[in-house]
Amino acid sequence: MENTLMKPAWYLTDASFDWLFPERIQQMSKRHWTPVGIAKSAAAFLASEGNGKILDIGSGVGKFALIGAHYYPGSIFYGVEQRSELHHYALAAKEYTKTINSEFINGNFTQVNLADYDHFYFYNAFFENLDTRNRIDQQIDYSTSLYQYYSRYLYRELDNKPAGTRLVTFHSLEDEVPPGYRLIDASEDFLLKMWMKK
Ligand SMILES: C[S@@+](CC[C@H](N)C(=O)[O-])C[C@H]1O[C@@H](n2cnc3c(N)ncnc32)[C@H](O)[C@@H]1O
Repeated sequence: MENTLMKPAWYLTDASFDWLFPERIQQMSKRHWTPVGIAKSAAAFLASEGNGKILDIGSGVGKFALIGAHYYPGSIFYGVEQRSELHHYALAAKEYTKTINSEFINGNFTQVNLADYDHFYFYNAFFENLDTRNRIDQQIDYSTSLYQYYSRYLYRELDNKPAGTRLVTFHSLEDEVPPGYRLIDASEDFLLKMWMKK
């Protein structure tokens, strides 16, 4: 019989979620993946109308999407991730946790049709182009102009979305948030922000 006292369920704490992955991936967790409490608050806002399609832009190993999918089974949580290794770990975690309302796409977010999704989560994915110290790896090209290109691209796409579109940003510099998005709520430290298109 499995000893459930040994470890908490995967969706309860950051440590229990990290346990799904190899040690190298666990070491990235604190700096690069959304904390469980933040993921729950963000998902509650994005899923509040029920049965929507929610996209995490730059989904890493799928932490936001898997936690959101667990707590909000009426919505579908998608993630698009440019690094194939991280995408592979997200798929493995989806299978291990038997999460049916999540999907993961491997590619650059610019290759995805954002018109297909209702609401968006964004944990400052493009900042790696500005931050020379804390990069996930050295496998891709980084540049200030890529940061600007991605931010402007996402800004335009978000600007085209209909009224009622929900957006959650975490640690964002807000270069991708068009003025048509109204701030609805924020965490005390203002790192987590909930927006809605007017
Ligand atoms: C800060 S991590 C957040 C991971 C995940 N959203 C979470 O909250 O746990 C940002 C992720 O965005 C990915 N990323 C950065 N630029 C991207 C792009 N243009 N297209 C797709 N993924 C991107 C990075 O590879 C990284 O895994």
